[in-house]
Amino acid sequence: MTLAAEPLIERSLLRLPGVYPPQEDTLLLAQALDREEMPPGTEVLDVGTGSGALALRAAHPGVRVTAVDRDRRAVLTARLNARRFHRRVRVRRGDLFDAVAGRDFDLIVSNPPYVPAPPAPLPRPLASRAWDGGTDGRAVVNRLCDGAPKMLRPHGVLLMVQSGLCGTDRTMHRLARSGLRATVHDRAHIPFGPVLRSRAEWLSSVGLLEGSEQHEELVIIRAQRP
Ligand SMILES: C[S@@+](CC[C@H](N)C(=O)[O-])C[C@H]1O[C@@H](n2cnc3c(N)ncnc32)[C@H](O)[C@@H]1O
Repeated sequence: MTLAAEPLIERSLLRLPGVYPPQEDTLLLAQALDREEMPPGTEVLDVGTGSGALALRAAHPGVRVTAVDRDRRAVLTARLNARRFHRRVRVRRGDLFDAVAGRDFDLIVSNPPYVPAPPAPLPRPLASRAWDGGTDGRAVVNRLCDGAPKMLRPHGVLLMVQSGLCGTDRTMHRLARSGLRATVHDRAHIPFGPVLRSRAEWLSSVGLLEGSEQHEELVIIRAQRP
């Protein structure tokens, strides 16, 4: 049975404290992942795997899946989930592509941290490292856009999710500059969760939010190497 036929698996994953729970962005990206062709022998990389949700989703028979995360607890969590659901996923700890240097992939999937975060010196919960993307939300997104093309095989695809708050056009231009053909593959509008609600005033003050908007646009971007 494929994971596409198991819609609740993302809800059943184990999670060590502080590891990102699969959420709307995970599920939207999982749906996009399901639409990709992954014949046996396909090499997939999940960057920022968290619970391992997307890596497990890609782990069809014969597909070789590697997952990376810089967080030790996420790595352990993803390994536990792969074992629990009998999926073959290699999980490595490292910053973005460091742990897979020298390899290349047919498909890279990523739900990176993309939430704009105020530069306040206040201590933040450790878990916020999973979603905070610097003051414009693009600290990791930009690095992903710049680094992914070198890790893709010819015709390889990058599938990523981000918030409209951190600039869809900026991502599209950056990927195009890196030589990829990028398109917006899917969009969804979801109500602000607690993190964005608590930051709404700051987001407005820095011009990232218009008026009293209380919905976030999630965007799936698909970028292909020629
Ligand atoms: C928004 S969570 C997504 C988790 C999971 N992929 C999902 O969709 O539910 C982002 C993940 O990226 C990881 N991460 C953040 N920066 C990273 C980096 N520079 N290199 C590798 N992983 C990173 C975080 O530890 C976190 O697990």
